Amino acid sequence: MIFGRVKPLDAILATAEKKSLHRSLGAVQLTLFGIGCVIGTGIFVLTAAGAQKAGPGLMLAFVIAGAICIVAALCYAEIAAMIPVAGSAYTYTYSVMGELLAWTVGWALVLEYAVAASAVAVGWSGYFTGSILTGTFGIELPAALTAGPLALGGSPGGFINLPAVIIALLITWLLMIGTNESARVNAVLVMIKVTALTAFLVLTLPRIDSGNFNPLLPAGIFGGFGSGVGAVGAAATIFFAYVGFDAVSTAAEETKNPQRNVPIGLIGSLVICTIFYILVAAGAVGTIGGQPVMGPNGVPFPAGSEELARQCAMPQYSEALVCSKEALAHVLRVIGFGGIGNVLGYAAFIALPSVILILLFGQTRIFFVMSRDGLLPERLSRIHPKWKTPHIVTAITGVGVAFAAAFLPVGQLADIANAGTLYAFMMVAIAVMLLRKKEPNRPRKFRTPALWLVGPLTIAGCLFLFFNLPAAAMLVLPIWAAIGLVVYFLYSYRHSHLGRGIVEVHEPEIHDIKPEIPGVDERR
Ligand code: ALA
Repeated sequence: MIFGRVKPLDAILATAEKKSLHRSLGAVQLTLFGIGCVIGTGIFVLTAAGAQKAGPGLMLAFVIAGAICIVAALCYAEIAAMIPVAGSAYTYTYSVMGELLAWTVGWALVLEYAVAASAVAVGWSGYFTGSILTGTFGIELPAALTAGPLALGGSPGGFINLPAVIIALLITWLLMIGTNESARVNAVLVMIKVTALTAFLVLTLPRIDSGNFNPLLPAGIFGGFGSGVGAVGAAATIFFAYVGFDAVSTAAEETKNPQRNVPIGLIGSLVICTIFYILVAAGAVGTIGGQPVMGPNGVPFPAGSEELARQCAMPQYSEALVCSKEALAHVLRVIGFGGIGNVLGYAAFIALPSVILILLFGQTRIFFVMSRDGLLPERLSRIHPKWKTPHIVTAITGVGVAFAAAFLPVGQLADIANAGTLYAFMMVAIAVMLLRKKEPNRPRKFRTPALWLVGPLTIAGCLFLFFNLPAAAMLVLPIWAAIGLVVYFLYSYRHSHLGRGIVEVHEPEIHDIKPEIPGVDERR
């Protein structure tokens, strides 16, 4: 019975039809938007955690995670071009597999968007304290104020990550008052990030010493179930560097000829990022070395753990890549480009907040759509009379994001975000395949090539990465899902509009609220 609550696709598409007035984006802008969402803490910070898990095998980790994202993007492209409406994976699942599974996807997207926003805030904090406060002004904040105390399975030994809290709350405030990032600002920020990564490559690639790649796989390819190490364990963590490309699908309703441009935007941005990431990993590890700090049993200490922090405090590791909180700037400093390292730090300082903004925005819009469907209290989607923003849901989300950023280390936040994202990607692949079976004749201007290969590969890839996350991050997903199911059966099941026989076509109102999708709207 509960699986029978499927939102009619025609009602959703009628909504999409009503929105054709704002279609202004082309393939280039969408690709830029994708790169703007994707390049962030993953490459600028988690390169260190990735090297601690895999050593030079980090390059292979980027290939594995990138390949899985590309097959997932091919699935996203078909369904996003077909159902170009807000809500992304949640909405697709609602129309294909019904309300209960859609709820679980919406609930998992909290991990993808909100927890990822926390991770990026913590990553930003590393660059802010390292390159700006210490590097530029010579100010050392007490360690207690720059890292949280909690680590699942270890402790990095701080009390609260104050800069991360402040940036998360600041961005929440900007979103609440309706500030948006224009397409032009997004393009400038993308250029800053791409220029910073290109400068990194120009300075590091010619200085690669092939001896640094030996041993290539110090922790092997598979580190073992739940260990989170080895090339595949690193892939499960640095998968985070690709998270956000699906935000391109949320811009489908603003896109000219979405059937052509959405797939180009999704796949184009991913391919560009994958190439950059592999080269940056080669430049980082090949110049200063990236061997993990090994424990007594020959297995790398867990990234973000107390044992690793203790080892990193020793003089012999003062220049180790795996010990740095601002990996890329650190590499440049060690190879003698301290000034440029600081400039790269400024680039991260300037550009990472826009990734937080896009992720926070994505989260508030998913909550907004869920509350419009009656699955969350409708008060949450109330619009502020002056700011014209869903201020209540934005404030609640922002406080949650700041709270997680205050107390958890970046690597663990990223792993948790990855767990939720992998579930959502898997459900999208299933939805695309089911829809092909259920409605084979519905027009599809973009068809996932070789879907019966690409779809199962996406599902297998997501499961594969999930089961190579550290055990603690893996556990978060079922616990979070169980909490979600309690909420669903106590509240959402009874309040669902669909369950009460109401099928409205009201989503165009999402365009009446501010801000619209950050970084894509031409008219600002
Ligand atoms: N992919 C984004 C980042 O690395 C979330 O920051």
